[in-house]
This record gives sequence, structure tokens and C-alpha cells, in this order.
Amino acid sequence: MASSAHLSSGGVDLYLEIIDGALLVQYWGATVAGNISEAIATSEKSIANSAFDLATHPGIMREHSRGFLGHPTISGHRDGSAWSTKFVLSWIDSTSKSVKVILTDDFAELKFSVEMNLDSFGMLKTSYELTNTGNSDYTLDELLYWLPLSDRATQTLDFSGRWSNERNPQRRDIATGTWIRDSREGRSGHNYTITQMALTERSSFGTGEVWAVSLGWSGNSQYLVERTFDGMQAIGAGEVLMPGEIILKTGEKYCAPDFYATYSRNGLDGIAENFHSHIRARPEHPKKPRPLTLNMWEAIYFDHNESKIKSLVDAAAEIGVERMVLDDGWFFERRNDRAGLGDWVVDEKIWPLGLDPIIDYIDKKGMEFGLWFEGEMVNPDSQLFRNHPDWILQEGGRTPPTWRHQLVLDLANPEVYHYLLEKINAILSNRKIKYIKWDHNRVLVDAGNSSRAAIHRQTKAIYRLFAELKSCNPGLEIESCASGGARIDLGVINYIDRFWTSDNNDALERQNNQRWTMQVIPPELLGTHIGPNPSHQTGRTHNLSFRATTALFGHAGIEWDISNLSQEEISTLKSWADFYKKNRKLLHNGKNVRIDYPDDSGFLYGVVSADKSHALFSYVQLRTSIAVHPPVIILRELDPLRQYKVSAVFPAGMPEMMVVTPPPWITAKNPLTISGSALMEIGLPTPILRPENALLIELQ
Ligand code: GLA
Repeated sequence: MASSAHLSSGGVDLYLEIIDGALLVQYWGATVAGNISEAIATSEKSIANSAFDLATHPGIMREHSRGFLGHPTISGHRDGSAWSTKFVLSWIDSTSKSVKVILTDDFAELKFSVEMNLDSFGMLKTSYELTNTGNSDYTLDELLYWLPLSDRATQTLDFSGRWSNERNPQRRDIATGTWIRDSREGRSGHNYTITQMALTERSSFGTGEVWAVSLGWSGNSQYLVERTFDGMQAIGAGEVLMPGEIILKTGEKYCAPDFYATYSRNGLDGIAENFHSHIRARPEHPKKPRPLTLNMWEAIYFDHNESKIKSLVDAAAEIGVERMVLDDGWFFERRNDRAGLGDWVVDEKIWPLGLDPIIDYIDKKGMEFGLWFEGEMVNPDSQLFRNHPDWILQEGGRTPPTWRHQLVLDLANPEVYHYLLEKINAILSNRKIKYIKWDHNRVLVDAGNSSRAAIHRQTKAIYRLFAELKSCNPGLEIESCASGGARIDLGVINYIDRFWTSDNNDALERQNNQRWTMQVIPPELLGTHIGPNPSHQTGRTHNLSFRATTALFGHAGIEWDISNLSQEEISTLKSWADFYKKNRKLLHNGKNVRIDYPDDSGFLYGVVSADKSHALFSYVQLRTSIAVHPPVIILRELDPLRQYKVSAVFPAGMPEMMVVTPPPWITAKNPLTISGSALMEIGLPTPILRPENALLIELQ
């Protein structure tokens, strides 16, 4: 049997060894030239004073039995016994891109299967499975993935958030101890980090080393960075299991959610590129151009008035919108958010002829139709709840506290699952419904099923339901929404086609939110809409140019009552819509570049095509700069030898400026011709924009 495995792909190496039956990840990082096994052999450490007499090699299982004193990989027991494990290798098979391993513990009667695949983008995907091979029940309390972290990583970076303000970066020094980011909402959550990163102190968007991990899971989860007193560092993640949530009977197995890990020496943008490339290469990644979308929520809320909706459709058609989404409020008794959830039949009081007439109206205008659901939820004030009060997730006969006046259905109950499948399929039998927006507007608490915690099952059940809805309705696309961006993760991504990035449509707030959600998710999967003025969330007012430029860098859309706009606003939106359609190939396939702009009053970012022949950048003035002239616009990722035609473009009008005259290149009649090298070394003078304005620059 082999005693080592060496995976190498996409600029990343992973080197594993078997020592004393334990499986060790001896190295994870940049590709290493030469003989890695010899280098590893020389890295054996001292035996310290007051320590184990022989070198310890705890390996990926991080077991007490092998002298490991930090946070273990597995915690569990058989009614108190089998609490300590010592797994030994029983089988290994590897190539230069993958390794499969089986470890067994004959005393604890457990089998542990590992599969690791390293793709050509440097993304390592690991899957763990634990099987109970004994004759009694095995209670699994925790199963985490861990990878060793280089001593050079001295900081962590992850994201925190709340409703309407997701993905705020928090960066801190690594110290002895364990940094844990827990998510216990039963959905990934607004506060969910999407990725846990570790990095060198000076790492930035464009430079420095970054190690990143992400879990393919939408239920409870945990991310960890640990530095033990012996100086070893590791980064990990796993599902958070509630007490007794996983009890394996004889022969049963627990499949941990997939774990993704990647490394880059090209800073945070290098990590984003690895994630984006990996995600884009999946067979299920949406292929057709991302349709310009109008979501009606902030235009009409619960006021479903057919003639009003038709006037929205007319305006949308004039602008060039390609998909109209009817949001919450269409189903039985749903006049506000206090009633109706669960009763998935069209409310004939407001739609006497059903939805077909409006769907046909939209179809005739050449647009797709999309519809909102929130299948996992039920209002106590609904027929469904009155008929089946026992269909909710609950514990101890208690009704969990309501949140937005709703409770959570137990999707792992086959009756509930089939009810939903049948009701939703009945609506989708109108084949013109090509798209559903699927919401999840509350957290799960006290979420039990037959006196057992049920979040794991619930998460699997929603994945199953999404997959089944898609197979019953070929071509159906699903948008994952959870009060905005509370279910954005690498688990649900395999079943959906778009994320609603945030309920906050304020363009200024969106700048931060989109900048960081893109750290993992490519922009073509992130809904970015032009919101109303003033913003319904913050009350801020922004000109259309800023709102439209902000919404361009994603799967663009509108969420605003456009039925009574001026002709000028309609033609501005039309020009922006044309620009989006003309450039979406670039926006949705290119490399995302976030420049380390030297003044924190501005953001500078953009997208460069793979062949570097086309790029769009945006300079955003967040607030006034301290200097009269903000730092120059110096770009990255261009071809230094190529000549670029450079122009400021205004598909949605000019930004407002605080100048007598802007730099001449901004208003030049013809594009300037400048070499990539000059753009990356000398740059362009930045106009003095009013705060909360954005400039768009095109390079060809
Ligand atoms: C959530 C979503 C919104 C909208 C409403 C409808 O808040 O995030 O986009 O769909 O629900 O109730």
C-alpha cells in the first residue's frame, strides 16, 4: 500500500503521508518544485522538554490517542464508550488530482472514508463519511474538517452581518486559542461568513498569501482557526450538530457536507478567482445570458392590482427587461405578512382568473415570468396550519416563538414534502413559469422532529425538493433568497441559479455588500437591482447614475415602481439595459479585480475579460476625499503590451462632480489610446466626484 499521496493542480499542492497508520496532511499550499517527500522528511520537529517522549503524528483525525491536544476531528460515543478513537489506514488510492482513503477503528467500530479532489483552479474538495460498523448506536456529536495552516498566516478574515447588512469583513490577528464562527440559525444566515480565510499581515486584494475554506452546507455550521500552544495552526469547518441529532445505527453512515479549500499568493482576488472558476466549471452553472430582471416587490409589495402590474410590465418592456418576477402576495389570503404562508393556491379574490392572464400578458411582451414561494414556512393564520398544526418543527409539544408571524414546516416529514411538491408543481404546470424565487424568512429554533433535532434532515430535504422541482419542471431556475442574503453558501448553490444578495437596495450599502459577497460567489449569480429613491431600507437618496452603475456588476435588475417614471428616466434605464446586455458576457465571465485603492474614500474595481481585450472598471466615491485630487486610477490585470481604447462611459447618465472642469479624458469625444502598461503604472487622473457617485470606464 502507498505510504504517501501527492496532489498537484492549479498552482496548489497537497501532500499526504501515512505514519504509524495515521493519515497526515503534511503540506497544503503553493506548488513546490523538486522532491516534496524529501523536504517533508527533513521537517520533523524537535522533541521538546516536558513533552511526549516520541514525536506525535495525529494527522487529519486529530486524536487524543495520538497525543493531539487541540480541537479533534470527531467527537462521539456509544452510550459513553468508544469516546476516544484511534483510526488506522486500511486502504488508499491516489492520482495526481485525487485521493481516496479508508481509515478504520476496530475498537470503536467505525469506518471513516475520505475523498479529496484538487481541480485545475486550485480548489480542493474534501468529503468525509463516517460509518457505524458496530452493533450498538453511535452518537456523533461533531465531525469537522481541518487543514494545517502555514505559520506565515498571522491573521484571519471572515464576514459578519445582519438583515440588510450582510458580509462585513472582520480581520484580526491569530493568537493562541480557537477562533470560532458559529451559525445556528438552521439556514446559513445573514451573519454566515461564506468563507473563513487566513492570510499574511500585508495581504490585500491584489497581493499576498491567502488560505480560504468554505463548507457546502445551508444548515448549522462552524468555521474555526486554531493555534495550539505547541505553535501549530489549522483552519477548519463542519456542520454544527444539535445534541443527539446524528445517532448512527448499525451500518448507517453520516456524510459530512463537502468542504472546499483553496490557496492563492495573489491576494483576495486570487482566492475569488479560484472560487469563481470552480463554480463556473460546474455542469449546473447557468449557461444562458442572465436576463435583465424586474422584481415587483418594492414596486407593489402586497398590493396586487392587475392594472398596476400591467403598467409595470409595459414600462419594463419599453426598457428591455427580460424577466418579470411576481413576489410575495399572490396566494390565498396573503394580504400582508401575517397570513397565508403554506396555502399555495392563487387567491381568486385578487386574481379571479388565476395568474394565467398576467403570465400571458408578460409572455406576449417577450418576457419570462417568475413567481415567489416560501415553501418551508407556514403562518399560524393559514388553512394549512389549521388543518395540520402537527406539521411544524417543534420540540416538547411547544410552539416555537414566531418570527415574521411564521413557523417552520417539517420538510423531512414525507406528508409535508409531498404536499409542497404537489402544490408547487400544480402552479408550475403553467409551463410559462420559468423561474421561482424561493425565500426563507426566519431562523429555526427548537426545530425538532419526533423528539430529535431536525436541522440536518431539514437541510437535506430542501436540497431534495429543489432537485425534484427542477427535474419535474425542466428548465426551471430557482433564486435562493432568505430575507436577502441569508442563504448564500456552497451547499445550496448546487440547486439554484441565483442568489438574492441583500434586501438592502441602497446603492451605497450595496457597494460593500457586493464587493464582499463576490469573494466567493461570481457576480452572475448575485441579484443586483436598481432600487427606488429614496431607498426603502435606509431612506438615502441617490441619483440614477449611481444606482444603475452599482447594479451593473452582478445579475442586474430593477426593483422599483417604474410605472410612472418620466420619459427621460425610461430612456436612461433603456440605455443602461442595452449596455448591460451588450456587456454581460464580459461582466459574467471575466476576472473580477478589486484594486487596493490608496484612499478609503473610494472603491476602484472592475472586470477584465480572459483574453484581456476588454474591461470595465468603476470608480466609486463613497465620501469626499481628504485630498483635493483623489489618488489616480491605476489598474491591474491588463495586458501591458496591448494598446487600449479608454473612455469614460455613461450608460445611465454622468456622475455628479465637484469641479469646474473634469480631467479632459472624461469628456474626450474619442477614446484615448493608452498602453496597458501605462494604465498600470501611470494611470488616469481621478475626477473629483460628489460622494455617492460612480464613474464607469471602458477599455477595449
Ligand atoms: C423577503 C425577501 C424580499 C421579499 C419579501 C417578501 O424579505 O428578501 O425580497 O421577497 O421577503 O415577503
